Amino acid sequence: MSRTLAIIKPDATGSGKAGKILAHLEAGGFTVQALKLVWLTGSQAEEFYAVHRERPFYGELVEFMTSGPCIPMVLDAEDAVVALRVAIGATDPAEADEGTVRRLYAESKGRNAIHASDSDDNARREIGFFFSESELLSVGAGLR
Ligand code: RTP
Ligand code: MG
Repeated sequence: MSRTLAIIKPDATGSGKAGKILAHLEAGGFTVQALKLVWLTGSQAEEFYAVHRERPFYGELVEFMTSGPCIPMVLDAEDAVVALRVAIGATDPAEADEGTVRRLYAESKGRNAIHASDSDDNARREIGFFFSESELLSVGAGLR
């Protein structure tokens, strides 16, 4: 088992699709290890997506990610990072495979319903961005 981070983005929370996306991921074999509802500040969104700072869509991305609440979650699965990237589909929903989260629920390339970590190193960094050790279910279970 390994671990990755997903974020249900503001387009999906705002249009009432969060529950469907969570159900889709659970049905796809992912186990929720931690989950919360957050409304990112501008500086939090800038920091989270700092890798894209020089890209032309950076301003639009930060504005979108702060436009409403997000639901970050830690997901466990076999080969979780790769499995979640497959499950969400291509960045642009028009190019995403049938049955993927973005094909089913995303509005556009920018407003694309869900984020997923793209490597094990980034998954660790991104999980740490949103969750403390004590908020991870596996740690909590160990304390019981
Ligand atoms: P993510 O990081 O959110 O999982 O998405 P991704 O890996 O599929 O795509 P990435 O290249 O990392 O881009 C991050 C997010 O920026 C927005 N974007 N807009 N308008 C555009 O051309 C454009 N390109 C990227 C999307 O919200 C994308 O998910
Ligand atoms: Mg990315």
